[in-house]
Amino acid sequence: MKRDYSIALEQRGNNNLMPFPIHRQRRLRKRPGILRMVRETALSVDDLIAPFFVCEGQEQAVEITSMPGVSRFSIDRLVDQVKQCRSLGIPGIILFGIPDKKNAEGTEAYNPDGIVQRAIKEIKSAVPEMVVITDVCICEYTDHGHCGLISGGEILNDPTVKLLAEIAWTHAESGADIVAPSDMMDGRVQAIRERLDDSGHEDTIIMAYSSKYASRFYGPFRDAAVSIPQFGDRCSYQMDPGNSDEAIREVVQDIEEGADIVMVKPALAYLDIIRRVRDEINAPLAAYNVSGEYSMVHAASQQGWIDGPRVMMEILLSIKRAGAQMILTYAAMEAARVLNGE
Ligand code: PBG
Repeated sequence: MKRDYSIALEQRGNNNLMPFPIHRQRRLRKRPGILRMVRETALSVDDLIAPFFVCEGQEQAVEITSMPGVSRFSIDRLVDQVKQCRSLGIPGIILFGIPDKKNAEGTEAYNPDGIVQRAIKEIKSAVPEMVVITDVCICEYTDHGHCGLISGGEILNDPTVKLLAEIAWTHAESGADIVAPSDMMDGRVQAIRERLDDSGHEDTIIMAYSSKYASRFYGPFRDAAVSIPQFGDRCSYQMDPGNSDEAIREVVQDIEEGADIVMVKPALAYLDIIRRVRDEINAPLAAYNVSGEYSMVHAASQQGWIDGPRVMMEILLSIKRAGAQMILTYAAMEAARVLNGE
């Protein structure tokens, strides 16, 4: 409708002229009820996915210094959090494992009795309706902090892909609904799809971190997951922030390999990418409102410089307006409380 109208204006040759006083844009801004009626985009609890860091131990809730309000939870405490998510109406959560032991190959990542695998089972038995998503990567499990296996200072692609498929399989075996590879190796979606299909998990969904940028906004997450790369950076596998066409290529390739849901990450500095993927690609789209985006808002809010909760809601709305249908955000529970009018 809107588009037709502006085309009509264009045909009249006055596309930059809204005739006044016939049209007064402020008419529709007079009353809250009218604002609600004409609002084009609204955030809903259904849009939110809550990330959680899960660690070993009992009764653990260790606040992450660089992420106010976010903690690492042991499985027992995590289950309480997931129950709260259910009461708030949040449909899904995503899990990140913080193992006690790390090594060069990240072998704990595919331990059938590893931290994430046990967490999935406990959550599924306590809150079966919760959609459980798992991050599939080895950077939280490697002592060098990279997302791939290493040889001679190089991040190896194909051997890493084999490992990722194993990790995804153990998550599916434990009951995960969705596996989400975040490593940015080539061919991982295909390898995971094959591994899942061969083992009877053809209904396990793949949410691919498809256009994941080499971003400085991940700083606080690496603090939380103790996954700071011990040498170099992630620029040989994550995307260059200057690229936009490449995001489309990544997304297309992941869909061709079998991704059910694609993701753009980070969200706030990449709203243009979210919009472009929405316009050009017909697939469910998630966006990751990452740790640095979350922490900046909290830091400024703690200083009293901005109204943190309102700014957070405005950011989440902008991500939805840009075209994301799902938003992974550390603010999921606080946003759900606002949306529920608590
Ligand atoms: C693991 C992974 C990362 C994030 C999600 N999965 C870290 C990274 O790639 O460095 C970042 C999430 C955030 O910053 O909130 N590969």
